Amino acid sequence: MGDATGANDPVVEAVFDAVAGIAPEIRDALPGRRVESGTENPSGETVLAGDMYADELLADALTAIDGVGAFVSEERPEATDAGEGYSVAIDPLDGSSNLRSNNTMGTVIGVYDAPLPAPGRDLVAAGYTLYGPITTMVVADESGVREEVVERDPNATGEDGPEGASRSVVDEDLTLPDEPTVYGFGGRIPDWPDAFLEYAREVESELKLRYGGSMVGDVNQVVTYGGVFAYPTLVDDPEGKLRLSFEGNPIAYVIERMGGASSDGSGSILDIEPDGLHDRVPLYVGNEALIDRLEAALDDE
Ligand code: F6P
Ligand code: MN
Repeated sequence: MGDATGANDPVVEAVFDAVAGIAPEIRDALPGRRVESGTENPSGETVLAGDMYADELLADALTAIDGVGAFVSEERPEATDAGEGYSVAIDPLDGSSNLRSNNTMGTVIGVYDAPLPAPGRDLVAAGYTLYGPITTMVVADESGVREEVVERDPNATGEDGPEGASRSVVDEDLTLPDEPTVYGFGGRIPDWPDAFLEYAREVESELKLRYGGSMVGDVNQVVTYGGVFAYPTLVDDPEGKLRLSFEGNPIAYVIERMGGASSDGSGSILDIEPDGLHDRVPLYVGNEALIDRLEAALDDE
């Protein structure tokens, strides 16, 4: 195990190196993998060939790291044992329904110092890559949050695992802008509970809509411009859509380390004690004042 903070932890570094090293391969593979794979994941979603490919590349690279004890993926029912060490939880291709329309997607990473399922308080590091016009990676640990640009390393041989990529830090201390600017809320308006709808009406009169249908892409708008992202509780699905271990916790960890707040409607996402690996959670993240208002609005229900 590492130093349990994630900062300067060689295992955490190796995990993000591996994810960055695979990013160019995932990108290159996408054009031919926009089709359905013919299977469903444990959450009942259609798996695309791109999801499966990314999952397999990441599983191979991450389970080979000394100090990674388990690989857990949104696409796999159970954890894959890898020896002693951290549990790495991955959403291999978040927002992959954007593959058909050729919009942003990403890979979400959570490094937990505990067997899963475990609360987000056990995260030692978390982050995501974004396959936008540029491949970027946001990495958060106890020391803070940074943004890197990831590019294929032309000198990498690929003999020892992932092809290899260079990582250049472009912002070494990402913090949430004080003045919120954007919002993005998932789900259909008729499925939103009245209290959330009322909150949304207020927010949309104050901020600009930025919504693309991929959690990492939409959260990255908030990371960049300040504001609030939500995939709320729904009338018929009180737990919302997103998965706690693979999506909610890593994103909450990043936003909280940037000085923002996360909530499931009543408290920090990171405090939730999960029952199962594929538990879902309503997710609200962003500037603290907006999350406080959200909690007050839902409390009035
Ligand atoms: O991983 C689930 C996901 O693709 C998220 O990235 C995104 O926020 C959400 O689903 C969008 O779902 P829908 O289009 O069904 O509302
Ligand atoms: Mn996802």
